Amino acid sequence: MSGHDLAFAILTDAHFGPPGHTLYGIDPRVRLDAAIDVINRDHPDLAFVLFAGDLADLGEAEAYENLAGGLARLKAPAILMLGNHDRRGPFRTVFPDADDDGNGFVQALRIFPAASILTLDTLDEDGQTHVGTLCVKRLEFLERALREAPEDRPLLLFQHHHSGKVGVRSMDRYIMRDAEAQWAVFERVGRRPDAMFHGHVHRPIFGLWRGVPYYIQRSLMHQVGFDFEAPDQIPGTLEAPDYALVRVSPEALTVHHRSFLYDGPHFWLHDETAVEGRFE
Ligand SMILES: [Fe+2]
Repeated sequence: MSGHDLAFAILTDAHFGPPGHTLYGIDPRVRLDAAIDVINRDHPDLAFVLFAGDLADLGEAEAYENLAGGLARLKAPAILMLGNHDRRGPFRTVFPDADDDGNGFVQALRIFPAASILTLDTLDEDGQTHVGTLCVKRLEFLERALREAPEDRPLLLFQHHHSGKVGVRSMDRYIMRDAEAQWAVFERVGRRPDAMFHGHVHRPIFGLWRGVPYYIQRSLMHQVGFDFEAPDQIPGTLEAPDYALVRVSPEALTVHHRSFLYDGPHFWLHDETAVEGRFE
């Protein structure tokens, strides 16, 4: 890659608890350690690894301490975002140097030569509903960031909650409820992000929200089932997690999924005998 390219990884919805805590039979620390092993080994030069919210499941300090212990092994810098399961107070006690927009929200604009990375905080800490929100102060930050981001490179916007419905009823109930106000900011500034990235839905999804591409990936932990209609409860599965490798060059942006727990064969496709008998 040239010096102007940008490469980074995304992990999302780690849902950490205290050390040894499991959720649906999975220890998030074990999952994170496995992801970090692969990322450190295969991508030693990433600009950052972004965690797109729901860092903790219940938001207690012990969960963030457990996460910090895992992240200590990560070679690349971590960008930590909050989701509906997080709590700002305990998060900041463990990560005092995390992003702060001046109003206490965990959001920032980072300008790289190849792209600008805008991270928003959509946690509604006062609410009990798990929906996302962008209050007036956060919308003002968004507007400043849109004006500040250089126009000669892509603007990639990260927020935990999705702004446009994805068609999964159980998760569209917990959408970012201030999407109209957010869109109005895009219109007022005259700039839309070139792509949006979310966590929250625990499913791999690509779509367009009013023409803006968005991308969602699997959770580090449990997944949401492929069930569009379940209205009241969220269907779960234990499908394998992915991390995303994102590369930005002057002419392309690509997002690669990698199933990092896969431990099956790797072989050359021209050699059918390499896996002969495997499925008989
Ligand atoms: Fe989540």
